[in-house]
Amino acid sequence: MTRDHDTETDASGREDPRTDGGTSAEGADDVALDPWGSSTISDYRKLFEEFGIEEFDEVLPEIPDPHYLMRRGVIFGHRDYRPVAEAMRDGDPFAVLSGFMPTGDPHIGHKLVFDEIIWHQQQGGDAYGLIADLEAHSARGMTWEEIDEHARDYLLSLLALGFDPEEGELYRQSDNRELQDLAFELGSKANYSEFEAIYGFDGSTNVSHVQSVVTQMADILYPQLDEPKPTVIPVGPDQDPHVRLARDLSDRMRFFKVTEAYASFELTDAERSLVAAAYEDREAFAEDPETPRCEEAGEWLSEANLDALGVVVAEDVRESAVEKLTNAGMEPLRRRVRFLDANATDAAFDALVEAIDGEKRRYDEHIDAFDLSFADADELAREVEVDHGGYGFVHPSSVYHRFMTGLTGGKMSSSVPASHISLLDDPEEGYDKVKSATTGGRETAEKQRELGGEADKCPVYELYAYLLAGDDDEFAKEVYDECVGGERLCGGCKEQAAELMREFLADHQEKRAEMEELLDELDISTESGRRGVAPGDD
Ligand code: TRP
Ligand code: SF4
Repeated sequence: MTRDHDTETDASGREDPRTDGGTSAEGADDVALDPWGSSTISDYRKLFEEFGIEEFDEVLPEIPDPHYLMRRGVIFGHRDYRPVAEAMRDGDPFAVLSGFMPTGDPHIGHKLVFDEIIWHQQQGGDAYGLIADLEAHSARGMTWEEIDEHARDYLLSLLALGFDPEEGELYRQSDNRELQDLAFELGSKANYSEFEAIYGFDGSTNVSHVQSVVTQMADILYPQLDEPKPTVIPVGPDQDPHVRLARDLSDRMRFFKVTEAYASFELTDAERSLVAAAYEDREAFAEDPETPRCEEAGEWLSEANLDALGVVVAEDVRESAVEKLTNAGMEPLRRRVRFLDANATDAAFDALVEAIDGEKRRYDEHIDAFDLSFADADELAREVEVDHGGYGFVHPSSVYHRFMTGLTGGKMSSSVPASHISLLDDPEEGYDKVKSATTGGRETAEKQRELGGEADKCPVYELYAYLLAGDDDEFAKEVYDECVGGERLCGGCKEQAAELMREFLADHQEKRAEMEELLDELDISTESGRRGVAPGDD
């Protein structure tokens, strides 16, 4: 694997972008989220605490008929999945998209993502699968010949597992002009220092690698080119830096920024929670509660018991809020939504003013509306933007799945054939790999009967849970319970798993063969005809 950098600086202050694969220093941080680095994650809890990924269990009840990977906690985290679940429930438009770097054979880890795309498609989503060939070439140094060969294999497996190409779209980054145009536009809102901070890029990073990042940003927003809609990106947690950047860039492209305000001045989110509380309590301090004054609110807030109000902010936030209120003097305190002009054309700004119902006030760089809810204002801003040639992007969402443990223990790696099962492995070979996998079993059958096996640490149990048990929760549970209860011994357990794996591979490969013809009819090319040399390790 080529690397663009090997720094260990933590330029972002939020995460450690070091690439520690292979040369990992002592104490190297396992939760570093690095899209091109090693992807072992020892402690999933840290992802919630340090990176703000949310626990999937919390949205699970909102999903009409969740996939087994969701029910079994294989999909463990998400960012902002609620709008997707809501669209699914209400029959509104939503989309799913993920991408694959064709750097090797597709394996059972990729199958998780294939299944996630297909499931969302079956729930009514617009589905997209893409081949990240620009990334594979520029960041992983793959030649175009290698890329073409592998690309075909990914697509055949995706189709064989049930992706409907009539309803969904498959593309490769290198020949999607619309995508590249979008990447170019998004690139104008990103700058090089954030790439250094987020990805650890430096002066030696090749320029095409940088381009492949803006291309991925465009991938993530591509489903919204027709119309803005909630879009879920199923990926491993190593891709989270990309998701966060895409969410940021989607904001930076917007014509208007919609906020809530209480007077002429701007508030930070933390300050707003205080001023909102003051506004709610205006009866307590206003001489005339119909027209509470900012300075009255400031005075009240400087002495208010924040704990009692249920607002948790630092003391300096209170100070700055009080200062703003005091400076505004006799200005009335009054709730409003504010449309800030971020990138709007003059025509769009005028049209928005026109479209706002009820009382409104127009300023040079913003408009205040007094009779609109935040949600209505947000929707209106998006409508006007789209009508005037903007994209109106909705924040993209993501779901994160656990990485599978390698069959030999340690991580599952494409470069260690025995550690994973390729979807192209001969069924007998798949059988053999399962038979020689490490287990969570005890040294002797006797001990196993006495203590039970350690299913939670067993790669074979993972095979059942992630793949072999399919939709059958009872079966997965039975394996688990029998294992930890000491009724199941590893020999028989592996035999059963190995047979199921052999069956799965035989069946999958038969379906792949049937898809060859279909793939040739689709307008995605599996021969790029590109020329060029793979970039070296730079
Ligand atoms: N960077 C991803 C990977 O390593 C591949 C990818 C490219 C992708 N574009 C994407 C994934 C868009 C999700 C969405 O493997
Ligand atoms: Fe793993 Fe099966 Fe052995 Fe339990 S019985 S430790 S699940 S191989």
